[in-house]
Amino acid sequence: MTEVIARGLEGVNVTATKLCRIDGQKGELIYAGYNIFDLAEHSTFEETAFLLWNLRLPTREELEQLKADLRRERPLSDLNDRVQREIVGKIRPMRALEISVIIAGALDPKSSDLSQEQLKKTAALLTARMPTVLAQYHRLRQGLEPVPPRDDLGHAANFLWMLKGEEPNELEARVFDVAMILHAEHEMNASTFSALVTASTLSDMYSAIASAIGTLKGPLHGGANEAVYRTLEAIGTEENIPRYVDDLLARGERVMGIGHRVYKTTDPRAIILEQLGHKLAATSPDRKYYDLSLKLRDYLAKKLEGKPLYPNVDFFSASVYKMLGIPSDLYTPIFAMSRIAGWTAHLLEQYADNRLVRPNALYEGADPRPYVPLDQR
Ligand code: ACO
Repeated sequence: MTEVIARGLEGVNVTATKLCRIDGQKGELIYAGYNIFDLAEHSTFEETAFLLWNLRLPTREELEQLKADLRRERPLSDLNDRVQREIVGKIRPMRALEISVIIAGALDPKSSDLSQEQLKKTAALLTARMPTVLAQYHRLRQGLEPVPPRDDLGHAANFLWMLKGEEPNELEARVFDVAMILHAEHEMNASTFSALVTASTLSDMYSAIASAIGTLKGPLHGGANEAVYRTLEAIGTEENIPRYVDDLLARGERVMGIGHRVYKTTDPRAIILEQLGHKLAATSPDRKYYDLSLKLRDYLAKKLEGKPLYPNVDFFSASVYKMLGIPSDLYTPIFAMSRIAGWTAHLLEQYADNRLVRPNALYEGADPRPYVPLDQR
């Protein structure tokens, strides 16, 4: 009998979840029963995080409580502050994020308390800290002092404030808020799975999130948004699109921000990001890469016609972030800073009904053979 190998675990259900449903043929994305288009129109990142952690929308009081909890956890610990000042300029921001999660875990005396109540506190703490880590990292590397968080600003607006030291206008704050909602959750992607594998050994939430951050970093996953930026940079102007794309495909390489393991049509998040980009571009002095993305998308639609390769979430996020004045090496960390809501929500599910993840590998190595001592080899 030939044994089946599920390489890439494609099509394999590794668990059940109440958090997210994706219909890759229709291009449908649902968080706990709510369509992503509705969430993008009506919700906020904080409300979406509550939804993912509790599987229902919050009341006004519950939402205010969560916002207060997040505000309280925004400042970094002294240790994290000192380490950041030491490492900035020596490491990339995703690594800084990983380290900050490990530090937060090291300082939490309740890190091994896996009760749902404590885990939700950890989820809020990590969600609140990540924007501060990234904004502070960016300030310090420019030789600037960090900008303290502002209690009168929401999660998304406060990040832009801490990053740039300028208050975003209403549209910028809303666009970034929606971008965070779009990146908050996506079923059993590689980084979420990686977090679950770690948690399934009953290791703590901090270590599970550090695993997820490491997994998100790769260019086939979250790293693709920065790779899209580099593609746009390399193309430069519209006239160069055909030559750039044709040469790339002829070399057998992939166009970043295109294709998805699950979506066989346009990713709904790309549709929403394109619309957000359209709004920003109306007043942005920095719309060049957004316009180039539209032309690239149109060229690829013709070039890849008949293949199930369409823009994914990363395709327009690069030019939207560019218009928001965010440096390109923060695109993937920002993805992590949003996905923390979904990662932690999946961890709540995993810890509530844990089973060790331990698959098999089909052995195809040497047949049993005698051991040859070192001096006889
Ligand atoms: N550009 C050109 N061709 C592509 C692309 C692409 N971006 N993606 C897939 N293909 C081609 C493959 O070369 C392959 O062609 P072949 O059958 O002729 O060999 C075919 O499409 C199927 O590719 P697979 O690798 O089997 O598809 P898979 O489901 O593993 O790929 C993935 C999904 C990794 C996302 C892929 O589409 C890719 O590499 N895209 C670019 C990177 C990217 O944008 N990643 C972000 C994904 S979204 C996210 O993680 C947030």
